[in-house]
Amino acid sequence: MKIPLVDLNAQYASIRNEIDAAIRRVMASSSFILGAEVTLFEKAFAAYCGVKHAIGTSSGTTALYTALAASGIGPGDEVITTPMTFIATASEIRRVGARPVFVDIEPESLTLDVEKLDEKIVTEYDVDHDAGYPINRVTHRRLRAVLPVHLYGQMADMARLQNLTDRYRLLLIEDAAQAHGAEYRTPDGIWKRAGSFGVLACFSFYPSKNLGAYGDAGAVVTNDDGLADYMRRYVHHGRSAKYRHQFEGGNYRLDALQAAILRVKLGHLDQWTAARRRIARLYDQLLGDIPEITIPKVIEGRRHAYHLYVIRTPRRDELLAKLQERGIQVGIHYPLPLHLQPAYEGLNYREGDFPVAEACARQALSLPIYPEMTDEQVEYVVDTIKDALSSPREHDATL
Ligand SMILES: Cc1ncc(COP(=O)(O)O)c(C=O)c1O
Repeated sequence: MKIPLVDLNAQYASIRNEIDAAIRRVMASSSFILGAEVTLFEKAFAAYCGVKHAIGTSSGTTALYTALAASGIGPGDEVITTPMTFIATASEIRRVGARPVFVDIEPESLTLDVEKLDEKIVTEYDVDHDAGYPINRVTHRRLRAVLPVHLYGQMADMARLQNLTDRYRLLLIEDAAQAHGAEYRTPDGIWKRAGSFGVLACFSFYPSKNLGAYGDAGAVVTNDDGLADYMRRYVHHGRSAKYRHQFEGGNYRLDALQAAILRVKLGHLDQWTAARRRIARLYDQLLGDIPEITIPKVIEGRRHAYHLYVIRTPRRDELLAKLQERGIQVGIHYPLPLHLQPAYEGLNYREGDFPVAEACARQALSLPIYPEMTDEQVEYVVDTIKDALSSPREHDATL
C-alpha cells in the first residue's frame, strides 16, 4: 500500500466540479489581478477567522513581511519568536531589518513557552514604560513584538501571551500558517479561532496547508482598520489610484485564480478539519499505549486543526526508514531548529540554547494525515510502526 503524507489528488477529485467552474469563471472574466474574486475571498476568510479584515497576499511569507512592515518594525528592533518553525517566520523579521530573538517552546504544546519568554524580558531588557518599549541591555535594540507560531495546527497560549504583550506594550502577531480553523478558549469561556487574537495574524495557503491554493498564496487578518488599509495598499505598490502611489510597497497581491479556488475550498474547510480530527483520534487510540511514542498532546482549552500529526520518539530515524520502505510517506518538521541553521550563524546561538526545540527536532515524525485518509490506511501506518518497534532497538536518539 502506498500512502502519501498529503493527498491533494483525492481532495481535488472530491470538489472537481466546483473548482473547475471557479477557474472557468475567472478565465471568462479575464480579471486576474485583484477584483471581485479577491475581495469575495477576503471577506469570507475574515468572517471565518472572526475578524474584520483579511488582506490576500502572494504567500504566507509575504503575509509575514507585510504584517511586520505595516507594524513599523525595522532596523533597531527585535521580535521574539520560536526556533521550532519554518524559516519564513524568522526570515521576514530579518527582511524588514529587525532581529529575531528566540525563546524555547513548551514540551507539551511545542509552542512558545510563555514563562521563559517573560523571564527573558525581565532579565535581559530594561522595561522602562516611559520609553515605550523594553530595551535589550546588550544589543540596545527595542523589543517590539512577539510572534508565536501555532505549530502543527495547535494554537500557542494566546490568553497568556496577550496578557504579557499588553503588560510590556508589545505587538502580538500570530504566525497562523498551519492553523486555519484551530481554536482557543478565552478565560471568558469563548472559543475563538486562530487569527483573532493578535493585532495581526498571518496565514499561508501553500498547497498542502489545511486551506491550500493551487500555487502560492497567503493572507494577513486584522481587526485594525488603519493597518488593513495600509496593508491593502502595501501589497499593491502603495497605490491609492491608478499610477498614484502614496508610498512604496511591493507586488505581494493574492492572485485572482487562487482566490477563486480558495473560496471554493473554504466552504469545505470545517468538514475537512473534522475529518482530520477523526483521523487524529484514531491515531491517538492506536498509538497512545506505546511507551516509545509520544502522541501529540492537545492542551485543555485548545482545539487542534491537525495540519500535521506529529509523534515524537527516540527511535525516529529507524521508524522513518521502515515507514518509507513500506510505501508510507512521512516528514520531519523540522530537522534543524532555526537557531542552528547556517542562515542564522550570525545570531550567535549554539547547540544547547533551546533544549526542548532541539529534542523535538531529533524526535519529531509527521505521519500521513489528510481528510480523505481511510481507517485502513491509518491502521496500516500504525501496524508498520508497531512492527518497526518490535525489532531490537538500533540506536538511541539522545533525549
Ligand atoms: C509556520 C510557517 N510560517 C510561514 C510559512 C510560509 O508560508 P509560505 O510557504 O506560504 O510562504 C509556512 C509555510 O510554509 C509555515 O509553516
